[in-house]
Amino acid sequence: MIDNQTLWNIDIGGMPARGPAPPLTGLKDVKPLKDILDLTGKTAIVSGGSKGLGLRIVNRLCESGAAVVIADVDDFFGEKAVEFLSAKGYTARYQKTDLRDLNQIHACVDYTVANLGKVDILVNNAAYYKIVKFSDITEEFWDTSLDISLKGMFFMIQAVAVQMIKQGHGGRIVNISSNAGNSMENFYGWMVPYVASKSGVNGITRSLARELKPHGIHINAVVPGGMMSVGSFNMERTPEIEEVQRANPGAPIGDPDNVARVVCMACTEMSDYMDGSIIHADGGTYLGFTK
Ligand SMILES: NC(=O)c1ccc[n+]([C@@H]2O[C@H](COP(=O)([O-])OP(=O)(O)OC[C@H]3O[C@@H](n4cnc5c(N)ncnc54)[C@H](O)[C@@H]3O)[C@@H](O)[C@H]2O)c1
Repeated sequence: MIDNQTLWNIDIGGMPARGPAPPLTGLKDVKPLKDILDLTGKTAIVSGGSKGLGLRIVNRLCESGAAVVIADVDDFFGEKAVEFLSAKGYTARYQKTDLRDLNQIHACVDYTVANLGKVDILVNNAAYYKIVKFSDITEEFWDTSLDISLKGMFFMIQAVAVQMIKQGHGGRIVNISSNAGNSMENFYGWMVPYVASKSGVNGITRSLARELKPHGIHINAVVPGGMMSVGSFNMERTPEIEEVQRANPGAPIGDPDNVARVVCMACTEMSDYMDGSIIHADGGTYLGFTK
């Protein structure tokens, strides 16, 4: 039985390590929040970071002090993004990286280490999605979807995690998933390859959390709700699919920055006790909210 005075001192003064538990930091010594959120000196890679959610994530990571490499295939948007971020005084680079090509994935990691010294953070944001009825899905469309959104994501994690293990001071990996990974919205019936890839993203996140935790690497996933982005804005819909959409209440639509803030959090020490978590930043879509 611990008396109140001792308990109070545990809160204020902390406690030495006991058994497998780490020492408890006393209230008087807790790390200030601004230091926990500070990424000064860290280096990050963000796939698909030239536009949409990816660019918002790059912006927040830079603002928190990280140097960021944008790994994307879009030279125009990639270079414009670097121009914009550099003008704000941030350290951002663009490295052309097609996630379908393992050589380009390795070249991106090598570029980051050669130019910025190391890799501490990876955000797997790039994905390929289109609305296509199941009977119209071609093998080529299937392969492109899975190669970018799932296979490319995995091999980017592999290349970066091997580098992080070599560096010896852990790291953070955040995978961008979707409610499509749970097939939660009515509409996802028309995005089968996307659903398959995002279900895979959730599974890979949980599975790798077990393998990577012993190396001090925290891997988690963020599930965004619907967002206005170049990709979502340009999605083509046939009249039949528009009819399906009209018949089903839509999910909330948000600003990608709302999701980027959560991703940025998961890249900081805020996520020290998170491994294999699937974090929803979706305005309640997972619960069936419609606005
Ligand atoms: N927009 C939404 O409503 C929504 C909802 C839930 C989840 N998401 C997820 O959020 C993430 C970002 O979505 P977005 O809407 O901003 O996408 P977007 O289409 O606007 O941007 C995707 C980026 O990925 C890049 N990219 C495409 N193919 C690539 C390849 N082979 N190699 C490297 N980069 C490549 C594109 O050039 C682009 O910059 C995706 O993982 C998506 O699945 C989006």
